Amino acid sequence: MGIYLNNAATTWPKPAEVAEAMSKFLLRGGANLARGANSERDLNTLNFVLDCRFKLAEFFNGYEDCDPRYVTFTGNITESLNIVLRGYLKPGMKVLTSSMEHNAVMRPLRFLEQQGVELKVLECEPDGFLKPERLREALSESKYDLMVMSHASNVCGTVQDINSIAEICSEHNLNLVLDTAQTAGVLKLDAVKLNLAALCFTGHKGLMGPQGTGGIIWRPDFASQVTPIISGGTGSFSHLEYQPEDLPDKFESGTPNLPGIAGLNAALDWLNATGINKIAAREHELGEYFLSKLKNFNGLKLSGKQDMNGRLAVFSINFDGFDNGILADELSRMGFETRPGLHCSPSAHKTLNTFPGGSLRVSLGYFNEREELDKFIDALSGAVK
Ligand SMILES: Cc1ncc(COP(=O)(O)O)c(C=O)c1O
Repeated sequence: MGIYLNNAATTWPKPAEVAEAMSKFLLRGGANLARGANSERDLNTLNFVLDCRFKLAEFFNGYEDCDPRYVTFTGNITESLNIVLRGYLKPGMKVLTSSMEHNAVMRPLRFLEQQGVELKVLECEPDGFLKPERLREALSESKYDLMVMSHASNVCGTVQDINSIAEICSEHNLNLVLDTAQTAGVLKLDAVKLNLAALCFTGHKGLMGPQGTGGIIWRPDFASQVTPIISGGTGSFSHLEYQPEDLPDKFESGTPNLPGIAGLNAALDWLNATGINKIAAREHELGEYFLSKLKNFNGLKLSGKQDMNGRLAVFSINFDGFDNGILADELSRMGFETRPGLHCSPSAHKTLNTFPGGSLRVSLGYFNEREELDKFIDALSGAVK
């Protein structure tokens, strides 16, 4: 196995407790959720799913004093964003987003635009930052129904001024939906303080859970205005042929990823025991170290913020005259795992002036060590020579 520097795609390694909890569920539990009776096995499943809902509500400071009903489980943040955007936006409505979005936001929005939703994309600065004034300007010209954006860029790590953006949205009664794919588990998030209509998260990145987990933290009044895009059995209200309006059932039809939720539950215990401040400080310190080494390269272009202020330890780099795909391939042969190309984010790369070639993305995680970064820097220097 190589040295893993692709944590923006998915974090690795996961805490050992995550795999242990998943294995325990599959080997010794295994009951479906609310589709049995009152056996010990049935109650165990009910308990850990509810436990995980409570922990998520508390982790993100959800609504109504962290009421677990306002937590929806999904398979990933792409599903979360689709549930929110396709379920809320109807032809004739108007939506805002930023030019730094992942296709998990852009593709549902472009689809909805074809159905008659009006979309305005706010242009970010060449370092990926969305000036809050851009939002103010747009709102002075027209009224919108919803703003959706990522908290931080998966391409270059730029973190948005979400406090100012949220304040402006609240002043204008504008529903704000946040894509926290790159920040959940790395930066503190507070759904109530930001007055988020929906906080969308994925379980397998900073939250340290398994793939196939994600969710939504809803503001109750907003959830009641969203039509479920999937309906079906919920293990509840079985006398009804219509989808229940009650949460969490309204948005959770079909058997959920129970081994995944068991793993996510254990990951949240690990996160709470480790502490988000410690995680943020560790990633920041590794980022500082890595940046200080990158500065010694001639001809290297770093996208986004040039120091660790206002960014995550997600770095997009290019060398004049080098194809980043070939470079990534060479590095992986040398035992270093990165990700080249466009990172599912063509609009972000256009903003950063790295479209269509893309960049070599090196993304650090809590478990990386300085020695691994030293080895990578040596390998990179060999590869570009
Ligand atoms: C900012 C952002 N949004 C959305 C996604 C989609 O995540 P998932 O594949 O877990 O749905 C990613 C994944 O890289 C991301 O970085």
